[in-house]
Amino acid sequence: MTLGKASAPAKVILFGEHFVVYGNPAILASISRRITVAAHMTSESKIVIDSDIGAAGEYSSSAFKPIKGGKNAKEILDPLHNAIEQVLAARNEKTGIKVDVFSKVPHGLGLGSSAASCVATVAAVDSLFGKPDRQKVCEQAIESERIVHKNSSGADCYISTFGGLIHYSKLAGFTKIESKSPLSIVIGSTGVRHSTGDLVASVKKFKDRNEVLFDDLAKRARDICMQAVAAIPSGKKEKVGELLSENQALLRQIGVSHEKADDLIDICNKAGALGSKITGAGGGGAVIALAATKQDSAKIGAKIKAQGYESFEVEIDFKGLVV
Ligand code: PMV
Repeated sequence: MTLGKASAPAKVILFGEHFVVYGNPAILASISRRITVAAHMTSESKIVIDSDIGAAGEYSSSAFKPIKGGKNAKEILDPLHNAIEQVLAARNEKTGIKVDVFSKVPHGLGLGSSAASCVATVAAVDSLFGKPDRQKVCEQAIESERIVHKNSSGADCYISTFGGLIHYSKLAGFTKIESKSPLSIVIGSTGVRHSTGDLVASVKKFKDRNEVLFDDLAKRARDICMQAVAAIPSGKKEKVGELLSENQALLRQIGVSHEKADDLIDICNKAGALGSKITGAGGGGAVIALAATKQDSAKIGAKIKAQGYESFEVEIDFKGLVV
């Protein structure tokens, strides 16, 4: 094959972020926004990565030359370079490779853009040499994402590869939530990029100072998650919405909300959302709101935009990786 093409979806964390770091469960969903990667073999002995996410560069032997994005380019592209090298090593191939990354996922908001780009890159390059195996793609993508997120659980790559909804905990690993119930979700961006590492560290400080309170909040977060595991497949959207808002109250208590996130949540709830919360690490980032219908979702999105924030509407993506 001369052109390999693959796409992989972004994700939201519906329930359980931060508490998952301490062994609690979390629920993740993949969403209908994708990153697409096109891969070609070349006769040059280098790997060239171009993207519309503000970075491009070429790797030859061990040297890196940025083409777009200056000093930051390497940090953005290294996981993708690692993904390509892993595939070439596993397939025992030595060819030059050029990949083009096209993203419809805003970067730095906790929507899993780096995982989706790793999954799509592994699969696009691998498809040049044969039929990619999903499990293997997922494992290689997790490995390459660890270049940036050293302690990554792998949950973002897992959900991006397999799609749908998953329940995750450190002890139990990944379990698919078998649901085909459509969920209309509105995403609002605070426009404030967050650092997951800094926020995880700030929660640790909170926990160390408030052991008893934190244990109680974690217990409530676990209970919310368990109720959601039951409510989602049976299509009880009102219940799911209530649980999202309850989860947000806990996140606010541990200090990871943000004044812009609170503002967005207020806008969503007043516009008729069934419930809303931050998604991911917080401290800015993105907010998710559950809508009863697609029409409600459009209405909520319009209200968010009217207040000057960026917003887009998504559904759950049940396809995952597409090659
Ligand atoms: O990087 P994000 O924004 O998708 O959020 C990470 C989720 C946390 O629970 C805050 C951290 C973690 O490693 O699970």
